[in-house]
Parts: sequence; C-alpha cells; structure tokens
Amino acid sequence: MYNFHQFTHTIHKQLVSEGRHILYKNWQKWGSMYLTQKELSVLNDLKTQEQNCIEKYTKYAELAADEELKELFLALKQDEQKHFESLRQVLAGTVPSCDCNDTKGRDYAPKGTYKGKADSQQKQSDCFLATDSIGTEKLVSTEYNFDVFAADNTDIRKLLADIQIEEQNHAEMLYKYKKENQMV
Ligand SMILES: [Fe+2]
Ligand SMILES: [Fe+2]
Repeated sequence: MYNFHQFTHTIHKQLVSEGRHILYKNWQKWGSMYLTQKELSVLNDLKTQEQNCIEKYTKYAELAADEELKELFLALKQDEQKHFESLRQVLAGTVPSCDCNDTKGRDYAPKGTYKGKADSQQKQSDCFLATDSIGTEKLVSTEYNFDVFAADNTDIRKLLADIQIEEQNHAEMLYKYKKENQMV
C-alpha cells in the first residue's frame, strides 16, 4: 500500500531533482507552500538587488556631505536590510507578514540644509547622490512590479507589492530632499 511516508519520500525525491529540496521541511508544514522554479529565480535576483542597495546606501551615507542626507541614506539602508531579510525568509519557506500601509514617503519632511544658500561643490555632489539613488529606486521598483506577476503564491505577491510601494516611497523621500534643498 502507498502510505504517507512513501508519498513524502517521493515528493522529496522530486523536489531534489528540481533543486527545490531546501523547502521540503516547509512543504510538510505548509502543505502546498513550495516555490516554483520561476519564483526561486526571481526571489534570488531580488535578493541580490537588495544586497546591492544595502551596499550602495552604506557607501552613499559615507559620501554625503549634508548630515540630513546621510541620515536619509542610513534610513533607506535599514529598509533595504528588511527587504533582504524578507526575501531570505521566503527562500527559507516562510512568507513574512507585511503592513501594506507605508506612509514614510508622505511623512518625510526634510528641513533643507542647502535652502537659500549659494551653490557649492558639496551641494552638487549631494545632488548627484540623491539623483542617482532615485534612478536606482525607479529601476528596483519596476523590477518588483514586474516580478509580482511571476509569483504563484498569493502571500508572495502581496509581499512583493508591499516592497514595491516602499521602494516608491524611497524615491519620494529622495525627491522631497532634492526639492527642499532647491536641487530640482
Ligand atoms: Fe529594497
Ligand atoms: Fe529602496
């Protein structure tokens, strides 16, 4: 007779052959929760992208002349670390819950260190860092938007959509910084 043990063993062999066995233990816990090849590939690429954002904001925080921009980069870095951690958890078989109600972009109110001051090298350099970061956020956000459609699992879709909104908020915060500092 084909018992449950044999059944799980067969599934395990199947997952190993497809390179998805890491999630075998979660498969038992979650029932249908295992990742498709497409999800695996997308999630791994997004994780690499988040790692890159963490490194970028670490470097940009060091390069920024204005203390307020430094703080903004460090705050963004923290968010990217959370994104990285969420993706790591999904790849380990657990989809973390998300609030889907982020107002950081709306609430951000920079005081504008360079406002009303003459153009300087520091201002130009900080303007470059902020503009370049907006470009990155735009690309990353587009990638998340695209990848939502590649997800099979509803919770993963929600998580990716939530992260996308946070990336949009990052771009909005950077834009507000530029606006308040008369860089646009
Ligand atoms: Fe991110
Ligand atoms: Fe971001």
